[in-house]
Amino acid sequence: MGYALKETKYRFRAWTKDGAWDGGSLTEDKNITIHEGSNVFHYGQAIFEGLKAYKHQNGKVYLFRPDLNFERINGGMERIVAPRIPEKLFFEAITSVAKANIDDIPEYGTGQSLYMRPFVIGQGMNLGVKPSDEYLLSVFCAPVGVYFKGGLQALDFITTQYDRAAGNGMGKVKFAGNYGASLYPRKQAKDAGYAGVIYLDPQTHSKIDEVGAANFFAVTHDNVLVTPKSPTILESITRRSILYLAEHYLGMKVEERECFVDNISEFKEAGACGTAAIITPIKSITHQGNVHQFGDGNVGPTIKKLYDLLVGIYYGDVEAPEGWLHELKLD
Ligand code: PLP
Ligand code: COI
Repeated sequence: MGYALKETKYRFRAWTKDGAWDGGSLTEDKNITIHEGSNVFHYGQAIFEGLKAYKHQNGKVYLFRPDLNFERINGGMERIVAPRIPEKLFFEAITSVAKANIDDIPEYGTGQSLYMRPFVIGQGMNLGVKPSDEYLLSVFCAPVGVYFKGGLQALDFITTQYDRAAGNGMGKVKFAGNYGASLYPRKQAKDAGYAGVIYLDPQTHSKIDEVGAANFFAVTHDNVLVTPKSPTILESITRRSILYLAEHYLGMKVEERECFVDNISEFKEAGACGTAAIITPIKSITHQGNVHQFGDGNVGPTIKKLYDLLVGIYYGDVEAPEGWLHELKLD
């Protein structure tokens, strides 16, 4: 099972009225009827999130670090000039959807999980370029397997001359338009036989920013875990988790700093990380016709260790740091 959508029965919807959120409710209706003048259609006023629920061996279900999705979505809300989502509403939305679709949460041992997609759109009649008066928060979900084909298999990526986000733009938030902008470079990369795109920093095109739908990280020849420091990338929850695991579980030195594409040979291992991507090892990066292969092209030892730790934590087989797992209470 990949990211082909299997529809689940229930989704959650909450609406604003006069700037305040209602309590929201579950619905079986997968269609949304909104005004043709809605900002989401014309001016792209939309953000989204992605998080997963995992079934552990003991049968209990846990969400992975949903507090960070809550913080991030509200960062995005501010940036698209939409009203803050209260914590109670966000948690009610995600937990009620996971509970209502409990039969679709994949079993422990399948390597699958329930991917949850909260999103917010500006809606209601509007013509001028200004924030909407009304908003919808919705959450739907689907059982998923791996995002990049092949599971823990190293894949080939290519840089692009296109940018997914502008220098002082929306790269930091999970703004729908960033993904619209990524479709064409993604198609080019796929058509040329690559698994995905590596974006460079939009200002100078000399530094690695991130992967189309995941962050980039790499391991130097002297075993430092490095991940780009850049104002234009999404602050990945998986990346934060990997940095912590590298430092506290593997005793590695970690650095957030610029990663110059011309100096890519400083790395012996590289990977893409994200909720959907989990950890996807990068076999090679092609840049301006030059192919740089990391190590022997197979999954490197540090990436394998990080993958085992992270996935072990997802499924409850490795002890999680305090506060990382949010139990879905079923009563
Ligand atoms: N970067 C981009 C552009 C993404 O779409 C994602 C996916 O959410 C990530 C990075 C990884 O973020 P996270 O680990 O929070 O899922
Ligand atoms: C995620 O990992 O949650 C993402 O947003 C990637 C995706 C767009 C499927």
